[in-house]
Amino acid sequence: MTISIKTPTEQDAMRLAGRLTADVLDMIGPYVQPGVSTDELDRICHDFIVNVQHAIPAPLNYRGFPKSICTSVNHVVCHGIPGDRILKSGDIVNVDITVIKDGFHGDSSRMFFVGKGTVQGERVVRASYEGLWKGIAQAKPGNQLGDIGHAIQTFVEAQDLSIVREYCGHGIGRVFHEDPQVLHYGEPHTGAELHPGQTFTIEPMVNIGKRHVRLLPDGWTVVTRDHSLSAQWEHTILITDSGCEVLTLGANEKR
Ligand code: MF3
Ligand code: CO
Ligand code: CO
Repeated sequence: MTISIKTPTEQDAMRLAGRLTADVLDMIGPYVQPGVSTDELDRICHDFIVNVQHAIPAPLNYRGFPKSICTSVNHVVCHGIPGDRILKSGDIVNVDITVIKDGFHGDSSRMFFVGKGTVQGERVVRASYEGLWKGIAQAKPGNQLGDIGHAIQTFVEAQDLSIVREYCGHGIGRVFHEDPQVLHYGEPHTGAELHPGQTFTIEPMVNIGKRHVRLLPDGWTVVTRDHSLSAQWEHTILITDSGCEVLTLGANEKR
């Protein structure tokens, strides 16, 4: 598996695309309230990306995907299609944004609590967030992809939660999904070696119940087989000489 190395100019383009992606998520947060439909969230994000950022929402028409963002509610694992569903207090929703600016992609997703959080919702949302950062901590030159997956899997499974295996992080650049596949499980000291200039996403999906998933007949929506709650966070990162740079950090996310 070859992982492309971005030139310094390309890295700057990735920084810009990443910042715009984070800006969309910062913008949409206050709109995620009881009573809003996922279609409204899609429309607000679409208009912001196109009219304010002068950028392109990558999901729209990507392999036939019909909307500009993904909204995955409760037991939806990923790739939920915005529609007339009205969010209600206690729901958890993942909003996944991919923006193309000057030909380069930024890709990030976050979980939002609708109204009042539930104990189970908070548990799975926190585990997926902390799990993502366990993976990011392993993203540095000299390490291998398996180190990232292993760190995430170990952390999540120690809490009796499960990691989805069918979907993974990915290389990203001019292409939305390029090599490598970034698995969220695995063995240390295995897989491709990390080198400065590589850009890829880490985006663990964590289920409260079993790890197994099912694809709905719409061809996109992925749900947990046992209908247990699922949560996901995603960042796009750049491997640097000393570690990595998170290109999609939110305004309230300085670590
Ligand atoms: N943004 C998703 C990812 O993290 C991919 C969505 S593909 C779409 O890789 F077509 F559903 F938008
Ligand atoms: Co992604
Ligand atoms: Co994404």
